[in-house]
Amino acid sequence: MRVALAGLGDIGLGAHLPALRRHPSVRLVRLVDPDAGRREAAAAQGIPVGADVDPGEVDGVVLATPPWVTPELVVRYARAGLFVLAEKPVATSVEAAGVYGQLSAEERGRVQVGLTYRHDPALQQLATWISDGTLGTPVLVRAHIYDEPYDPADVEHADRIIATLAHGTPVVHEGAHLFDWLSHLLGGQPESVDDAWSRMTRPGLPAANLTGARLSYPGGHQALVEFGWLTSALPRCELTFLGDRGLATLDGFTFELRLRTAAEDREIRFPGDRMTRCFDLQVQRFVDLYDGACKAGVPSLDDGIAALRTAQLVAGRAL
Ligand SMILES: NC(=O)c1ccc[n+]([C@@H]2O[C@H](COP(=O)([O-])OP(=O)(O)OC[C@H]3O[C@@H](n4cnc5c(N)ncnc54)[C@H](O)[C@@H]3O)[C@@H](O)[C@H]2O)c1
Repeated sequence: MRVALAGLGDIGLGAHLPALRRHPSVRLVRLVDPDAGRREAAAAQGIPVGADVDPGEVDGVVLATPPWVTPELVVRYARAGLFVLAEKPVATSVEAAGVYGQLSAEERGRVQVGLTYRHDPALQQLATWISDGTLGTPVLVRAHIYDEPYDPADVEHADRIIATLAHGTPVVHEGAHLFDWLSHLLGGQPESVDDAWSRMTRPGLPAANLTGARLSYPGGHQALVEFGWLTSALPRCELTFLGDRGLATLDGFTFELRLRTAAEDREIRFPGDRMTRCFDLQVQRFVDLYDGACKAGVPSLDDGIAALRTAQLVAGRAL
């Protein structure tokens, strides 16, 4: 599969590029970024660089681009006949995601969304514990998604996260992952957002950097979710799933799992580190889509839009 990687920033060079290189069926034919500095920095990779994707030279494109440019690129490349793996969130608002309406069903089917951690075996294990009654049902989920600490000495990181915050609170960006996991684990989209809040920890930020909500899912499951960025220190990033029979804990960074019930207390670690494991599985899914082994993108564009819709409901309720 001939692939171009567009977006040579943090996640593009740090995670997509090595994962694409590791896959034996992928040939990276071009690295693309409109920013000359980013192209210069990537030139040492030994892969041709360019300012634009030429749909004639590739079968697929990976878009590691900011969500305010991603929708237009997805539409352009899917309509040109390419397979597209697009970073989350799929847009910064449901309204902005309206452009995906221009795609035919066939073009939509060629789009896979970079909800990378959905592929992790830890999530499949959690889904089993929830559906087979190991934890008891319903469950109460507590999700504390805290990331991106503020370090004034790391100007590039602080500038990048503050620029992202200008396009929505952390729920829009991190919620893309979390709400995808929860709908996958709890049997569907939330039935309601029951409550929400947000706070700004210091003046001058473009949006609230802490936010949270309470949501109801089918089957009586409930979720208490919190997201936070840009404080000097952060609480633990962790998800717990509590039912009458047991408690499962998922480390938000490593995806190590712990299950505690009356009968057992055990920890499960899957091989390798979470990022390598999930980006490799994600590329495999993309190759499967190209080969026809997969009939639609997993996760799909609809999954990405559904997670965005929930995030937007929370953000609106928290105002
Ligand atoms: N899946 C994950 O686990 C994960 C992790 C981190 C970030 N992300 C997502 O990845 C995206 C990028 O994040 P980042 O931290 O790498 O940002 P970044 O700012 O470091 O990189 C984005 C790059 O895209 C380039 N770009 C802008 N417009 C472009 C265009 N039209 N064509 C090609 N390139 C263009 C920019 O010049 C920049 O180099 C965001 O949507 C973010 O939410 C996903």
